[in-house]
Amino acid sequence: MEKPENEKTKVLVCVTGGVAAYKSPGIIRRLREASHEVRVAATAAAFRFIPEETLSIAAGGKVHTDDTWWKESGRVEHVSLARWADLVLIAPATADSMARAAIGLGDDLVSATILAGAKRVLWAPAMNPEMWANPATRRNVETLKSWGHRFVDPAEGVMASAEELPGVGRLVEEGEIVAAVEEALGASR
Ligand SMILES: Cc1cc2nc3c(=O)[nH]c(=O)nc-3n(C[C@H](O)[C@H](O)[C@H](O)COP(=O)(O)O)c2cc1C
Repeated sequence: MEKPENEKTKVLVCVTGGVAAYKSPGIIRRLREASHEVRVAATAAAFRFIPEETLSIAAGGKVHTDDTWWKESGRVEHVSLARWADLVLIAPATADSMARAAIGLGDDLVSATILAGAKRVLWAPAMNPEMWANPATRRNVETLKSWGHRFVDPAEGVMASAEELPGVGRLVEEGEIVAAVEEALGASR
């Protein structure tokens, strides 16, 4: 049964520019089916991999973008989103998005929202295994973890690009991401 609006937990799903972005609508739908109130933000690079319209339909509303960031009148969108969300989920998360967060950049809506005091942050990274194993990425992940950010680590197996490469890098299945969201929200209740 649908929860009343005031009992729903609020999840901001941020989509970044990796091949696995085509899986984001499924994750968004699963979160909405699990009675979370969901808003969606996306980086400019995300739209190289998934149309804004597809994300908007999955979200059941507008997608927050670098364009809306600059056009919203009367409020500062990265601050209002950071305050609104009980949890910010980045899925898929690129190496680039984690690097920006780890050095405190706020030069796009997604990075600025994380920087503006998001209460809980959960990363679901997806990338080439060499990128995931790279010392720069390892350092960035450790930095973010040391600040209390959570991770649902990538898995082995066939990549979104249909390649089967040795090592981990593939985005985990939707169900695992939804379970990690529930766990992170449970820990914060
Ligand atoms: C074809 C293609 C596929 C890419 N796939 C990934 C990916 O799966 N993971 C990743 O971390 N970066 C990937 N990149 C690199 C990102 O798109 C790039 O770092 C971009 O700046 C990320 O921007 P964002 O983090 O603002 O979304 C890919 C780039 C291209 C051209």
